Amino acid sequence: MLNLNFDYKTVVKTSERVEWTLDDVLPEGTRLDFSRLFLPPVLVPGAELTFLSDAEQRLRNHITSNAYLNLFAFVEEYIIAMALQHAHAEMFGDHDAIRALCRFADEETKHQALFKRYCAAFDRDFGHPCDVLSSPAEVAGVILGKAPIAVMLVTLHLELITQLHYTDSVKDNAAIDPLFAKLLKCHWIEESQHARIDQLELQKLTRGVDRAQLQLAVDDYVELLGAFDGLLKSQAEMDCATFERASQRGLSDEQRKALAGVQHRNYRRLFLHAGLVHKMFLETLGSLDPDARARVAGLAGTYA
Ligand SMILES: [Fe+2]
Ligand SMILES: [Fe+2]
Repeated sequence: MLNLNFDYKTVVKTSERVEWTLDDVLPEGTRLDFSRLFLPPVLVPGAELTFLSDAEQRLRNHITSNAYLNLFAFVEEYIIAMALQHAHAEMFGDHDAIRALCRFADEETKHQALFKRYCAAFDRDFGHPCDVLSSPAEVAGVILGKAPIAVMLVTLHLELITQLHYTDSVKDNAAIDPLFAKLLKCHWIEESQHARIDQLELQKLTRGVDRAQLQLAVDDYVELLGAFDGLLKSQAEMDCATFERASQRGLSDEQRKALAGVQHRNYRRLFLHAGLVHKMFLETLGSLDPDARARVAGLAGTYA
């Protein structure tokens, strides 16, 4: 049983207070500054890639940062659909919930537009084609076919890690590009409300659900993480191709393998491991079922 000290009305109130517009954050035609690091190095470590020069490590940082934003835009595709489905399920019911869920969908659509605008600017200024995951609608269809509790758990997982990356590593970090930091700050501000809506919706979805049903939902959640890991591996391989193109340097098979391995490990840590060890995520699961919490916490080592 989830005991929450907030409701849909307070979430909407906060959301209205902190909202921003796309043009405030990233006006059309903004040029990117490639002399700076985008993501903080602590989020994309790779000191063991000793065959890369400092300039090439910065290039790797830029490629990863672009893919990182694209990954958020990618998963937001299913989150928009999910929020609208939940709003529809409330039709003629709780209007505070409908408002919160419609704002949730609207904000995610705005985030997607922000990230796509940034990635388009990246493509324009980077000077080389940058390979990133495509077909988000196809993946959204697979995710939305899973148990609604599992879909909401994956969403809560993702929305909590977004916040964690910002608060732990980006906030007040003077070493990185201020524009990239501003993007992540604006995203974090609104994601904080989304994580609350996820919890309120989980509370609703799990009312009257027995342990067996909850376990099936956790099965789906675990399966979705595994599928996501496959996508992260593909992104890591694409990063290698982009790196070779942009650096105009051919890597040996061994170097390519090492670079792909570091990229995959970093994405796993960022998107999977960070959620599996997140205090609030585990507490939420634990209040639904202590066994589910233990099972999910036990998975963290797989994605470390
Ligand atoms: Fe978002
Ligand atoms: Fe969100």
